[in-house]
Amino acid sequence: MAKPESIVWCDGSQAEYDRLCGELVAAGTFIRLNDRLRPNSYLARSHPSDVARMEDRTFICSQKKEDAGPTNNWIDPREMRATLTRLFDGCMRGRTMYVMPFSMGPIGSPIAQVGVEISDSAYVVANMRIMTRMGRAVAEWLGEDRPFVPCVHSVGAPLAPGRKDVAWPCSEKEKWIVHFPETREIWSFGSGYGGNALLGKKCLALRIASVMARDEGWLAEHMLILGVQAPSGEKTYMAAAFPSACGKTNLAMLIPPAGFSGWKVTTIGEDIAWIKPGPDGRFRAINPEYGLFGVAPGTSQHTNPNAMQMLQANVIFTNVAMTPEGDVWWEGMTDEPPARLIDWQGKDWTPDSGRLAAHANARFTVPAAQCPSMDPAWEDPAGVPISAFIFGGRRSTTVPLVVEAPSWEEGTYMAATLGSETTAAITGKVGVVRRDPMAMLAFCGYNMGDYFAHWLKMGRAVKQPPKIFRVNWFRRDAGGKFLWPGFSENMRVLAWIVERCQGSARGQETPLGLMPRYEDLNWSGLDKVSAARFSELTQVDAAAWKEELRSHDELFAKLGARLPAALEARRGRMHEKLAA
Ligand code: GTP
Ligand code: SPV
Ligand code: MN
Repeated sequence: MAKPESIVWCDGSQAEYDRLCGELVAAGTFIRLNDRLRPNSYLARSHPSDVARMEDRTFICSQKKEDAGPTNNWIDPREMRATLTRLFDGCMRGRTMYVMPFSMGPIGSPIAQVGVEISDSAYVVANMRIMTRMGRAVAEWLGEDRPFVPCVHSVGAPLAPGRKDVAWPCSEKEKWIVHFPETREIWSFGSGYGGNALLGKKCLALRIASVMARDEGWLAEHMLILGVQAPSGEKTYMAAAFPSACGKTNLAMLIPPAGFSGWKVTTIGEDIAWIKPGPDGRFRAINPEYGLFGVAPGTSQHTNPNAMQMLQANVIFTNVAMTPEGDVWWEGMTDEPPARLIDWQGKDWTPDSGRLAAHANARFTVPAAQCPSMDPAWEDPAGVPISAFIFGGRRSTTVPLVVEAPSWEEGTYMAATLGSETTAAITGKVGVVRRDPMAMLAFCGYNMGDYFAHWLKMGRAVKQPPKIFRVNWFRRDAGGKFLWPGFSENMRVLAWIVERCQGSARGQETPLGLMPRYEDLNWSGLDKVSAARFSELTQVDAAAWKEELRSHDELFAKLGARLPAALEARRGRMHEKLAA
């Protein structure tokens, strides 16, 4: 159907990766960075129309519209298939079609899933080799009759004979990211960027996997997984959901601050968690990915030293700025920007240019094995036991630093009503508060009301469900400054959560749930947060919460009859408690 000029079956080898990177350099898609400063690393600059996930072009084409639900875009699958047939007919003319068998999760693990992506982008192949376990070993495991998820991708820019290619081919006219949940298929057209094109990530590991998880009794979540080791040696694993560009990568590889000697944080994953009830009656979580596709801006020696170390070699950078020496730079990497740069669009840049040097959603692709904080168990096919779920969003006002839900049901309500200010990770307006249930608004492959019911049910599928917490690192003072120092200092909240899981830490009941008092957190080594500032950080403002509940009501009203009664009841109790 796609009529490519040639077909390459990817073996996933280093030699294949190096050959493709060489071809990408020759085509002008990649620039090889200075080998002394950033060995074996490349910079790609995308087309300005292709810089982030596009939620308005993402579709869940279930047979029935109600099964996609009111929070997803839906088109009748018959109509959608007709459109895809039109779009894909001849769409790879003049290009190479790459065939990539890949595994999400360790090959052969009972939790893993196999996909086969077909793409006409060598950039996608290079990224998929870092982000997934890709190549011959997966094809061999697959054999002739194991199931896999077909993932069809085209940049949607056929090359007429004799025409010279552009550095970043994509379709400026139309972009489509389409899922057929019943037949477990993914079709993506027109974009080469991130989650639009690396189909193992958001499309398979979240949207399709969430449907599998509903049917089979597990959870596919937009969560990091980390381990906290206390000075006693005891390790507590937790999984945390934050919307895109709200701090999962930073939290997953946190280095505890001064005052926490003997504590250690280890990383299992930083974007996606697959969580299944284990034989011991606890949830077990794996990271289905093999690499990181992380936000570059804001990453620095101060905010994330582990990431800076991880990024020293073997990295693909997309849409960052380049220094005259052939290294990379982005906003926030250093306090002082370099005097001269080439910006993400390839133009000369100086600090007074008045525009960003790196795109706000510039990203790095890097093997997870290069992250210094990876947990020894990060590839354990059985997963790690989860003691707590954390939900966080970007909220300048209203939402306190940390709250513990009294029960699984109340925690599900808390997670279902998560709100966050939008970021540059998606196209559209930045900084608008919206409901982003479980940080899954853009990733749940079915009706959100059914997803809430599934969460309630999963709490009963294990003997002792994890405790649920809500955090907010992003509250601001009247002058617009962050009240909470964040980053490594988030350890103070993690330690309280660990101690809550062990039954030792204390707190105070509030209408929202249990919150630590000032004296309940460990402040050693930090004098920036006074008792007065802490009370600002944790304040529950009745008027603001009235407004907040109105917004919960709007989400619930939208879900209508599919909203579980238990959540509706919890909403009523919140109104009563806050009014009192
Ligand atoms: P996706 O990969 O898009 O799913 O996002 P992510 O959740 O992994 O995002 P990431 O950790 O890369 O978030 C990066 C953004 O969050 C940057 O703008 C950081 O500066 C900001 N950030 C992360 N942690 C903190 C924190 O503790 N406090 C504050 N104020 N900002 C933070
Ligand atoms: C996100 O947007 O949540 C990401 C980046 O993790 S992408 O893979 O492009 O979706
Ligand atoms: Mn993400």
